[in-house]
Amino acid sequence: MCGIVGYIGDKSPVEVIMAGLHRLEYRGYDSAGVAVVGAGKLDCVKSLGKLKELDRKLEEHPLHGNLGIGHTRWATHGAPSEVNSHPHFDKAKEIAVVHNGIIENYQELRAALQAEGVQFRSQTDTETIAHLVRKYYQGDLFAAVKRALQDVEGAYAIGVICKDEPEVLVAARHGSPLIVGLGENEAFIASDVPAIMKYTRKVLYIDNGQVCRITRDGYKIEDIHGNPVQLEVKTVDWDDAAAEKEGYPHFMLKEIHQQANVIRNTLRGRVHEGSDEVNLPDMNISVEELKGCEKIVIVACGTAWHAGMVGKYLIEKFAKVPVELDLASEYRYRDPIVPPHTIMIPVSQSGETADTLEAIRIAKTRGAKVASIVNVVGSSVARESHGVIYQHAGPEIGVASTKAYTSQCTAFALFTIWLAEVRGVMGKAQAREMIAHLREIPEKIQWILDNQEDIKRCAADPKYRDAQSALYLGRGYNFPSALEGALKLKEISYIHAEGYAAGEMKHGPIALVTNELPVVCVAVNGDTYDKMVSNIQEIRARSGIVLSVATVGNEAIRPHSEDVFYVPECFEPFSPIVVAVPLQLFAYYVAANRGCDVDQPRNLAKSVTVE
Ligand code: M6R
Repeated sequence: MCGIVGYIGDKSPVEVIMAGLHRLEYRGYDSAGVAVVGAGKLDCVKSLGKLKELDRKLEEHPLHGNLGIGHTRWATHGAPSEVNSHPHFDKAKEIAVVHNGIIENYQELRAALQAEGVQFRSQTDTETIAHLVRKYYQGDLFAAVKRALQDVEGAYAIGVICKDEPEVLVAARHGSPLIVGLGENEAFIASDVPAIMKYTRKVLYIDNGQVCRITRDGYKIEDIHGNPVQLEVKTVDWDDAAAEKEGYPHFMLKEIHQQANVIRNTLRGRVHEGSDEVNLPDMNISVEELKGCEKIVIVACGTAWHAGMVGKYLIEKFAKVPVELDLASEYRYRDPIVPPHTIMIPVSQSGETADTLEAIRIAKTRGAKVASIVNVVGSSVARESHGVIYQHAGPEIGVASTKAYTSQCTAFALFTIWLAEVRGVMGKAQAREMIAHLREIPEKIQWILDNQEDIKRCAADPKYRDAQSALYLGRGYNFPSALEGALKLKEISYIHAEGYAAGEMKHGPIALVTNELPVVCVAVNGDTYDKMVSNIQEIRARSGIVLSVATVGNEAIRPHSEDVFYVPECFEPFSPIVVAVPLQLFAYYVAANRGCDVDQPRNLAKSVTVE
């Protein structure tokens, strides 16, 4: 998704903006641009492709001043091209706009502006904003932006500058993320915190419908009708090093390796050693609401939806509450029934996923209590929910979700224990035992991270590395592991991969099995192990290449498998958290060996802020 960075102050705006845009590369983009106000003019450089191309062009055509905005574009309206890239301008090129989101009524606005004689340069929805601001501009950029936004429908985060106001940066949001960073005699705007972490930790999270006038020594916030708004300045405690690779070739590999600590962080403060109690106060759900809950609805997209499936299995097994799991993009359009006493649990790493946000709004209007599992603090999902369990996974930069997934599963485990205890279906002894199992997970993950040789070897083996497609099978708690393993492989290596419930094999996918098809079988110790072995034998009988994920010490599985990735013995309901790690590593090394752009796979964006 598009990334926005803006700066006002004594530093070089181009340096600050380019450093920030590099930090936002994880969002995915196809073109980029920067505009700067200085020496009485507004100048701009744009390029198609990666930021290094923009860097090169900026060397040839330097921009000087004290005020600037920059953008990485992920095309929605109009093909990726230099002319469609941001910033966009009014006719006289005196007002520049960067935008993330979609203006839903842009065709009507465009037609109306054209009827007034405005000529458009691009096919974008964004350009309408630049012309609208110009239409209402009477020497006050802040006022013109507020007035222009009254005509606009849809989602936006925008940054606006004007040649005639070299000391004013205007920003606004509705539906797309935007923060303002406050420094000493300088200020920033950005789509996400990592873009400005190097310069300041003091942040304003601009809310929907708010417009901010920013100068180097202050700010003023109003809604689009001019009503004043007060916002609390928050201090961000993310570690700056977290946004760097710290010696790993890719963010994804770094984030995989962070998972032992990430799980500790997700548990931190919520469970104590030897305790039988879980503490989740930010969920903002009362004991009465938990006791009276008749249905739980989990909504999410992609990997977060797989975590939701782990959550469903855990909640139904241990807390005995019926759970409906839905893709947010389906939930929002299928007129869902929300009976009284429903709790919705949206799951989202970014907290900005458009479909998940819309599902929340629907459930809220139908009376559900909404408590979300979210990584990004202050994100839209967090703010639109009644309560939240923050994952505390730190920034996830790689487009492929890894540490976010395992921490989401861990958050579900915590919630399950809490819910089951409150509802009286889990005794203190069982709760203590489950908490102890959770606390063991980091060291099990660490064991896998310390024993990667077989994974690396297999990922370099042509029968896996050069495969055309792959099948992932799992049962019960590890059915979501199969889905997640397949998603990881396909999204970063571009090998076609499908995850299936192993019991579904004979209902179709077995037709695919040949001596060229790798079949990754999750067969860790547990209730469904024997059934998995039967499936493995069926695949071997058809010459499929079986790659098993099994429990350490299980030598019996070797004769049935071409290769085995071992994981430590684990409490089966929590095993998806551990099993995810070798599947992530395998996908990573296969993709890296194929020379793929692991952190920014083609066509994908980290944060899907449009549907
Ligand atoms: O930010 P979210 O957790 O809401 O994102 C959901 C999906 O877009 C995300 O998990 C996506 O599927 C990842 N590329 C998976 O690795």
